Amino acid sequence: MQEQSNQPSPDHGKAVRLDAFGGPDVLDVREVLAPQAGPGQIRVRVTAAGLNPMDWFMTSDADTAARFGLTLPAGFGTDYAGVVDQVGDGVSDFAAGDRVFGGALSRAVADFVVVDAGGETAANEAHHTPDGIDDRIAATLTIAGRTASAALAAIAPGPDDTVLIGGAGGGVGVFAVQLARIAGARVIGTGSPSSADYLRELGAEPVAYGDGLADRVRALAPDGVTAAMDLHGVETVHVAREIGVQDDRICTIAAQVDGVTAANGANAVPGALEEIARLVAAGQLHVPIAESFPVEQIRRAVELQAGRHVRGKIVIDL
Ligand SMILES: NC(=O)c1ccc[n+]([C@@H]2O[C@H](COP(=O)([O-])OP(=O)(O)OC[C@H]3O[C@@H](n4cnc5c(N)ncnc54)[C@H](OP(=O)(O)O)[C@@H]3O)[C@@H](O)[C@H]2O)c1
Repeated sequence: MQEQSNQPSPDHGKAVRLDAFGGPDVLDVREVLAPQAGPGQIRVRVTAAGLNPMDWFMTSDADTAARFGLTLPAGFGTDYAGVVDQVGDGVSDFAAGDRVFGGALSRAVADFVVVDAGGETAANEAHHTPDGIDDRIAATLTIAGRTASAALAAIAPGPDDTVLIGGAGGGVGVFAVQLARIAGARVIGTGSPSSADYLRELGAEPVAYGDGLADRVRALAPDGVTAAMDLHGVETVHVAREIGVQDDRICTIAAQVDGVTAANGANAVPGALEEIARLVAAGQLHVPIAESFPVEQIRRAVELQAGRHVRGKIVIDL
């Protein structure tokens, strides 16, 4: 096993730990033994971890945690970025000192994570971080990027499309809006009225969610909407159907609706993350960081995100 000396000590590091499942107040920062890279694995000195709703959803109660295979004491967070500091036997794709980003299911908010070098799911994966992307941005890409890519694939928007995106300003929305625009589509994105300018900056025409949404969308797009993705619940699905979008051009990510595709980041096409990272590095896709927090403020960060009005991504610095 190769090693690179680093700070803090390779044997110990900080990690968010839970002794019980529940809300933000169960999250503690502890000094723990650092995991060691086994054969086929790399260890990453994490510098930034991006938050997603699934982080606090899966640790919110024992039944949900069990569905994700979590046991106590548990870790927290999945998206990470940092620098490889140990390389297990048999690994040739990564070397100590490489900048990487990826996913480590419910253990990413920690100084060190170990992942399989050949891992291919957000639960356990690493990718080289391209030059031109800093670690805070790289730490936002995995779950939201995979999910947006899967949602795009489900409805395949193109230059002839007008796409309605529900929850367009959230963590997944920022990727979905921009990817749909890059594909040439016109995008109408739902948000609260105070998010209108922010949605415009992303490339979406803003429309307020809530009662009367169908009429507001018709007024914006009198020639019709051709595809839709609901990144928040089911309102956008129902409105899309009401205004004539075919079921096979509608998808959800946060709810199940009979007849429409439930897109899942786990099913993103191979290479989706590399392509998103390439677009970010090229300056063609911008990731807004709503706020970053030192790890000691993990509870505040999770409370903010659980409010469900974040514009873009929240990042924890390590
Ligand atoms: N299937 C999968 O693989 C997968 C993967 C990732 C996430 N998800 C799920 O997808 C959902 C979105 O994830 P995310 O990371 O984008 O969440 P997020 O960052 O928490 O989303 C926040 C956004 O939701 C918007 N919002 C709040 N209330 C809304 C409403 N009533 N209608 C429409 N939009 C509303 C907010 O807009 P305003 O601030 O303007 O109100 C804000 O921009 C979550 O439920 C998450 O668990 C699923």
